[in-house]
Amino acid sequence: MTHIQTQALSHIPSDIVSLGDYERVAADFIRRDILEYINGGVADDSTLSANRSVFDQLKLYNRIISNFSSDSCSDNGNASTHTELFGRTLTHPLLLSPVAHQQLVHPQGELATAEAARAMNTPMIISTLSNTPLAQIAKTAERSWFQLYWQPHREANLALIKQAEDAGCEAIVITLDAPVNGLRNRAQRAGFRLPDSINEVNLMGLPQAPARELNPGDSIVLKGFMADAPNMEDLHWLRQQTSLPLLAKGVSHPADAKQFIQLGFNGLIISNHGGRTLDTLPASIDLLPAIRQAVGKDVPLLLDSGIRRGTDVIKALALGANAVCIGRPQMWGLAVAGALGVAHCLKILKEEIEVSMALCGCANIKNITPDILVNPPASIHSRARHLGDM
Ligand code: FNR
Ligand code: LAC
Repeated sequence: MTHIQTQALSHIPSDIVSLGDYERVAADFIRRDILEYINGGVADDSTLSANRSVFDQLKLYNRIISNFSSDSCSDNGNASTHTELFGRTLTHPLLLSPVAHQQLVHPQGELATAEAARAMNTPMIISTLSNTPLAQIAKTAERSWFQLYWQPHREANLALIKQAEDAGCEAIVITLDAPVNGLRNRAQRAGFRLPDSINEVNLMGLPQAPARELNPGDSIVLKGFMADAPNMEDLHWLRQQTSLPLLAKGVSHPADAKQFIQLGFNGLIISNHGGRTLDTLPASIDLLPAIRQAVGKDVPLLLDSGIRRGTDVIKALALGANAVCIGRPQMWGLAVAGALGVAHCLKILKEEIEVSMALCGCANIKNITPDILVNPPASIHSRARHLGDM
């Protein structure tokens, strides 16, 4: 593949010990225009930088009176990173966000990521826009969810959902924050366009959007693309099509969050798409407390955008998330060392979660409360424990 500039290594360089190191090293393995597409945000990258700076500004307490002996762990007598989501156990509160076009950085693309996901026992959320058929990815990953980009024809959505169900995907995620691409100025400046060899294989053979008749002066965005975005009726219809847990990804407004739950959605992914949709959206971690408050303690909330450290994960859990997902680090790991690189990213993050929990005095996931934060947002002071008995 001509767009792969440097072949992935078959070992991990010894100076890679963090996800940030993967970001640094990946820059030598990914062609520059592709790197700008992957790493870039939109417009002025304001949301992209907030995704990191807000995590850094949240400060943790080091709780030093140990409570790790089996008697003092109130729930199951065991110190553990395990948590339950939709009736299944996650060994760590961590999943792989849907990331499209993984063959941009590695010839095996999503299959290599799926191998890593299986090796590290981490569910992979498979993108509609994968370059490998979703059933093949699901088979390799063992545990997977399917991310749906709404298709203009209902039967196309149904066909994708059926494939995901048949492949054993455990949940369906519909991403709703990107009905049109954001203003990817960095990718534009670098002249990025999807190489011809990169195919959206899951969409091949499915009915495509009808050509829209626009009058002179009509907006192709507002009258064209947005006419194909799912509306309330479509979402209602979608809910009827599967008995799998259904999540909405890209939620930022608490009122939207409530509406999804009223529609029968089972969970939400609070996300600003890694700063790739609407610039000046807040960091997702800033949106979390209000959404938790809006939907109550029992609705599973996942969060992505900017998670790079174990401390980020426990901050998100302290503010009301049940689990988190990572996006770009998959591409960095893949580019540097294929499946091995992605597995190493997951291993690093899982170990960091454990160390962070230990040093914050949290023997298990339920112990991760706002009490570990020096400066929790004012809105959460008055709330009872958000995770309840999940
Ligand atoms: C994405 N993201 C994304 N989201 C989605 O729902 N479907 C998709 O196909 C993609 N594709 C995609 C490609 C690339 C290259 C990137 C970087 C991101 C968004 C992704 O799921 C996630 O929300 C963000 O990547 C999370 O932020 P971090 O971890 O990258 O900071
Ligand atoms: C992206 C799309 C594919 O963020 O979701 O590039």
